[in-house]
Amino acid sequence: MKTLNRVVIGLSMAMLALSAGHAQSDSSYGDDKYRPSVGQEGKDVIWVPTNGELVGKMLEAAKVTSSDIVYDLGAGDGNIPITAAKKYGVRAVGIEFNADMAALARRNAQRAGVADRVKIINGDIFQENFSEATVVTLYLLPDLNLKLRPTILKMKPGTRVVSHAFDMGDWEPDQRIESSRANAFLWVVPADVAGEWALDGVEIHQKVSLQLSQRYQRIGGNIVIGKSIQPILGAQIEGDRLSFRYLDAKGVLHHIKAVVRGSTLEGEHQTGSTYSPLKGTRR
Ligand SMILES: C[S@@+](CC[C@H](N)C(=O)[O-])C[C@H]1O[C@@H](n2cnc3c(N)ncnc32)[C@H](O)[C@@H]1O
Repeated sequence: MKTLNRVVIGLSMAMLALSAGHAQSDSSYGDDKYRPSVGQEGKDVIWVPTNGELVGKMLEAAKVTSSDIVYDLGAGDGNIPITAAKKYGVRAVGIEFNADMAALARRNAQRAGVADRVKIINGDIFQENFSEATVVTLYLLPDLNLKLRPTILKMKPGTRVVSHAFDMGDWEPDQRIESSRANAFLWVVPADVAGEWALDGVEIHQKVSLQLSQRYQRIGGNIVIGKSIQPILGAQIEGDRLSFRYLDAKGVLHHIKAVVRGSTLEGEHQTGSTYSPLKGTRR
């Protein structure tokens, strides 16, 4: 069944590329040394290039800056890492299993004048280490995205992940990216904040703890101040940035913002126009 699904999805990827005027004659791709065909077999997924308009929108949605490291998993002819290096001056890496394709991508990077910033690894995305990436791009298949998901969720909080066409199962995207021919999804890897935290800097005379439950970027919980348990309001985790509000027992609104680093957090506690520093440790 899984194999049948893959074939159907693979065929529709190729059909979409064809109907979008992507697969002009094969001679429009490659060079004198290697001419790949749109829809040709790959190790886990066929080759269909992401169109230039969508590449631009994917990188824009990921808010790429020159300090990012962009990895394209299954890099094909290198169009995504090459565009990222040209447009944003980033260091970009493509991982491509097909040796001829990887060599073509290297020559394309040379022709585009970005060979010093683009590295193409001829390897398997399930074997190579891409943990240094701050932006990951994908155009794979739904089950491959799911297979990569545990690794992606362990990456540095704040890493942006952009997938052409396919989602990540029950990990809701933070943004949908639309272009005239195809769509993509963006996720920001959230810090792991689940559990109980001891907070210092909220109340001077009482013990304060924060109980958080989490499913990907969706979080909720309670703040316990002495004997009073208050639900937290509008809780958000964006990468390593945690923020929420709560009403104290007297109905006064408080706002907490903090940066999470593993099992500690640091930030500020705001009540009206009064700000105070805040620290927290996971129990
Ligand atoms: C749909 S194409 C996407 C190409 C490029 N990322 C883009 O969006 O234009 C997928 C690419 O992944 C490559 N590929 C398939 N399985 C792979 C694997 N396990 N490791 C590395 N590359 C793989 C294929 O050869 C193909 O070039």
